[in-house]
Amino acid sequence: MDEALFRSPRKHGRIMVLLSGRGSNFLAIHDAVRTGAIDAEIALVFSNKADAPGLAAAQARGLETMSLDPKLFPDKPAYDNEIIREARAREIDLIILAGYMKIVTPGFCDAFPYRIVNIHPALLPAFPGLHVQQRAIDWGVRWSGCTTHFVAAEVDAGSIILQASVPVLQDDTEDSLAARILIEEHKIYPETVRLYFQGRLEVRGRRVFILE
Ligand code: GAR
Repeated sequence: MDEALFRSPRKHGRIMVLLSGRGSNFLAIHDAVRTGAIDAEIALVFSNKADAPGLAAAQARGLETMSLDPKLFPDKPAYDNEIIREARAREIDLIILAGYMKIVTPGFCDAFPYRIVNIHPALLPAFPGLHVQQRAIDWGVRWSGCTTHFVAAEVDAGSIILQASVPVLQDDTEDSLAARILIEEHKIYPETVRLYFQGRLEVRGRRVFILE
């Protein structure tokens, strides 16, 4: 068996959430933090969009928030460097992409190896990228779902942590399939973060093992 490249820390973690929109995955994770299911605190909720509903929801829950307009930065690395700086200043253990609709730069990934996670609304490696629920319907797959994974420089190609599947129904629309997948997202994303801070995720080669 491959040697372990990484084992997640067992500790009370400090989380930074990056989001661009509604923020329902962020809320599901925060709910699990509040019940104590996840041993961590959300130290910062960050958005590239000042008017993201998820940011307002975070404020309403009394969390620290921040938004930065990418247009005010000369290029993508400069923007991501600012995010890296904010994360380091707060001693963040895990960065959670929750509907963050910007591609993170390789420099960002390298700054936090195995410390950035994402959720994707398809069964990776099928349907990376955007508009994946419609693409799954158009392709004719019978099953789709969602995937949590570590973030690596190649988009949607990092090591898979958890997946959940849902059937694709004949009368599905993009919205109806997305809604069925979202129900599962709200289960596997909090579970991913829970396992992370229980020190139970071990990476060997491409594979993530869940320790007892
Ligand atoms: C979720 O379905 C998530 O999987 C997807 O955006 C939605 C965000 O919803 N993410 C991606 O497509 C990433 N490429 P939310 O803001 O309610 O969590």
